[in-house]
Amino acid sequence: MKIIKTQLELSGYLESFRNNKFKIGLVPTMGALHNGHLSLIEQSKLACDLTVVSIFVNPTQFNNSDDLLKYPKPIVEDTKMLVQAGCDVLFLPEVSEMYHNHEEWNYGVGALDKILEGEFRPGHYKGVTQIVFKLFDLVKPTRAFFGQKDYQQFLVIKKMNDDLNLGIALVACPIIREPDGLAMSSRNIRLNDLEREKALTLYQSLLFVKENYHRYSLSELLEKAIGYYQNDEDLKLEYFKICDQNTLLDKQINDNESAIALVACMVGKTRLIDNMMLS
Ligand code: PAJ
Repeated sequence: MKIIKTQLELSGYLESFRNNKFKIGLVPTMGALHNGHLSLIEQSKLACDLTVVSIFVNPTQFNNSDDLLKYPKPIVEDTKMLVQAGCDVLFLPEVSEMYHNHEEWNYGVGALDKILEGEFRPGHYKGVTQIVFKLFDLVKPTRAFFGQKDYQQFLVIKKMNDDLNLGIALVACPIIREPDGLAMSSRNIRLNDLEREKALTLYQSLLFVKENYHRYSLSELLEKAIGYYQNDEDLKLEYFKICDQNTLLDKQINDNESAIALVACMVGKTRLIDNMMLS
């Protein structure tokens, strides 16, 4: 596996592959890799000739400086996992390599920026689109792979890809879960034993809604789902929503048309998100 730290070296290295019409797959990550990330690499290796994984803890997408500071950076373990997974190129830039001082980024995310994650993490998607655009522009991948775990992020990036005619085939890959159902996340290692148990509430409440989607009205479903989080001071629910899969606007009726349940919750000091398709 080739490890590259500068934009200049990366674009130079990729040029000959591009000229030879290699299909290049890009998997953008912030590291602290787990099987969720590895599943994206697996998909890329199946569909592309060369797989580039980026590890970059992008400061512009963190609205909470403590979260940024505490973000895990196990680069030795990550590198080993990438070699084992058959990654071809690891792009591992420093912050100063990706950003100049006083840089501006004015892509308007639109309505998706005001709801769910956009509402609770102001500026988050501005930072995500800023770094993903830079990575797309640099790597010029044929395909880029993202997880449904961050479903709203996928829709935001899809919109940017369409709005700016970037022409990249975007692939959304299924959520990889622990055996008990907890969605894998780089943040899970911050949970203590008790919090780890309580974190299962996200999966359980989503599963309840999925299994009972046609049994109750939407308001009853939401009330029962929110009930999972009540009377527990370690769980601070930020939102639990049942939305249209395309617009992420609240569903009005529980019909069979593209519904998704999405949740964000603080478990102790760790913020977790999860979601589940309902139809
Ligand atoms: P990060 O949280 O490291 O996630 C990298 C990719 O892995 C994202 O596309 C995410 O949806 C996917 N992923 C995370 N957990 C997953 C799981 N349990 N199953 C399947 N896929 C999973 O998302 C980011 O980084 C950043 O915002 C980034 C896009 C890299 C921009 O900085």
